[in-house]
Amino acid sequence: MFLKFRKKKKKKEKPVAQTLIDFPTERFEINGDVLTLRLATVSDIPGLVAIQEAVYNGYAPWVARDFYHELTTEKDRLYLVVSKRDQVVAFIALVRREQVPDLHIANLAVLPVWQGQKVGSYLINTAKAVAWEIGLPKLSLEARRSNTGALALYDRLGFHVEDVIENYYVDNKEDAISMVENLEG
Ligand SMILES: CC(C)(COP(=O)(O)OP(=O)(O)OC[C@H]1O[C@@H](n2cnc3c(N)ncnc32)[C@H](O)[C@@H]1OP(=O)(O)O)[C@@H](O)C(=O)NCCC(=O)NCCS
Repeated sequence: MFLKFRKKKKKKEKPVAQTLIDFPTERFEINGDVLTLRLATVSDIPGLVAIQEAVYNGYAPWVARDFYHELTTEKDRLYLVVSKRDQVVAFIALVRREQVPDLHIANLAVLPVWQGQKVGSYLINTAKAVAWEIGLPKLSLEARRSNTGALALYDRLGFHVEDVIENYYVDNKEDAISMVENLEG
């Protein structure tokens, strides 16, 4: 067969590395819209970058390369996305930290048009359920001192301030507020 007629092989998507748990796809409703919560795949990466650009004024702290590495190489991760049809509208990045031990929320963002409708709360509550299921005693995260809305949300969901890490964020030397939620009674 002539080379030009040879069928182009479809590029196979690289599978995500082994995730923390076998997370089953869920559907939930927000103000009449049915959303899907599922494991992230490599195809979601442009959507993950776009959400960050939308929430951080055009700047994505984690670029496509970072997400690709996280999804395909790192173990002890659980990346979940919320989608409405084909559009990714929110995500949460979870990391199991063996030494602490805890489940760390490394990244969380909701597209601006979906904010304030409890999608973030749903993701955090899902993270709590995951931590329980895999036997981790606490959930943790860091937020910028200036991110008062997010800090208030975490406080309402049961987190408390554990530490202040001075000059933590490299872009503007802002302090990080480190929060934890103990899950054991
Ligand atoms: C913080 C964030 C994940 C919360 O998700 P969400 O779906 O808007 O949160 P919920 O609807 O469950 O909860 C709403 C609460 O979140 C807080 N919040 C923070 N930023 C908010 C925003 N831009 N719009 C609405 N609520 C916001 C408020 O405390 C709000 O409480 P209220 O409804 O009583 O005003 C989301 O606002 C977001 O993506 N922000 C930009 C990225 C970010 O800051 N990520 C967290 C880094 S630590």
